[in-house]
Amino acid sequence: MNSFIMMAVTMKSSENTAKTVLRTLNASEIAPGMRLQYYEHAAMDRAHHKFTALLGALPLVDKAAFSCLLEQICQEAKEHFEQEERFMLTTEFDQYKAHKAEHDALLLLLDDQRNSLNAGHQPDAVGLQLKLCHWQDKHQQEWDYPLADFLRCRASWLGEGTGI
Ligand SMILES: [Fe+2]
Repeated sequence: MNSFIMMAVTMKSSENTAKTVLRTLNASEIAPGMRLQYYEHAAMDRAHHKFTALLGALPLVDKAAFSCLLEQICQEAKEHFEQEERFMLTTEFDQYKAHKAEHDALLLLLDDQRNSLNAGHQPDAVGLQLKLCHWQDKHQQEWDYPLADFLRCRASWLGEGTGI
């Protein structure tokens, strides 16, 4: 795959009017962990793919849209984590505490970003994307795959209609 991506960014022209132009990302700006994963668990797949799409939009937005996108990412992460935590509690999954601690750490990171933005600091959308993609990739390997495997196996033992 080509290591360069053309993307739209909003810049000011000499007349001080906003217009959309293309720029090229270099390889270091492309998050290496940015890819779709499949768990073969419908609810987890849907949530992860939506979250990945939001992360993919990070370098594309201007400063005004960044705050709106950050809010969407926070909301999506919160809902997605609550869903996984409900699955773990309902099934008495034994890694609940450690898995939830990982979720809480990311929510704290997102809160820090929101506070920094509210304090008037310039957002670093590409830096945030790299951080979130790295977290997501690691989290998926270490925590979400084992959970999805457990849920799939449990569903196959109990049959349809378990609701999870
Ligand atoms: Fe998770």
